[in-house]
Amino acid sequence: MSQASQIDPAKLAAARAAVALVQDGMRLGLGTGSTASVMVRELAARVAAEGLTLRCAATSKATAGLAESLGLTVESLDAIGWLDMTIDGADEVDPQLHLIKGGGAAHLREKIVAAASDRMVVIADPGKVVETLGAFPLPVEVLQFGFETTRKLIRRALDGLDLGERDVLQRLAGSDALVTDEGNFILDLHLGEIPDPAALSRALQGIPGIVEHGLFLGMCDLAIIGREDGSVVEL
Ligand code: 5RP
Repeated sequence: MSQASQIDPAKLAAARAAVALVQDGMRLGLGTGSTASVMVRELAARVAAEGLTLRCAATSKATAGLAESLGLTVESLDAIGWLDMTIDGADEVDPQLHLIKGGGAAHLREKIVAAASDRMVVIADPGKVVETLGAFPLPVEVLQFGFETTRKLIRRALDGLDLGERDVLQRLAGSDALVTDEGNFILDLHLGEIPDPAALSRALQGIPGIVEHGLFLGMCDLAIIGREDGSVVEL
């Protein structure tokens, strides 16, 4: 089977539709994950075919490596300063375009890059669309210092929101703790559902050891959902 035929057609459709929004001269944020990787490949192919001049910032070391290997020039976010558009994947998208991100442990950089973009475009397959966020465990990036204390404070915050008795599990890479690009740990909050994402976001933001959580509220401007037949739906 060729590499092209192994690509999920829904992810490919969403990626192609997003890459079609790219214009010459744009400053772009490149997301992280399998869908974003398809997008980076499509983008590199378009740049090569049409000779577009772009300035790109990556949301992870993995994406930077992939983009550079395909001939895209990647600069630091600070060198570019501000972005016209970021294209990224998501773990969940709700009808308000609120997101859960961080399944690839990159939500800290992803949120910084999205916040520095005029427009955040999410690309996803239909399995990511939900009525209520929370079936996907919510990633929270925490400092290594005081890690267990931070975990206790998160449990206490969940109790205060009547989200108690839920698992707060450290993400592993094999048998070791997963360490993010920024040198932090990840806790995955298994909540089942998040009835009030804004309240949970506020509660988590008040805990000192948390660097960033994976709720993206009011940040996504457009979600492009690809389908198996190659069509897309925009939310
Ligand atoms: C990485 C992310 C990804 O965008 C998210 O996990 C979706 O990944 P995939 O496209 O592989 O399903 O937030 O931190």
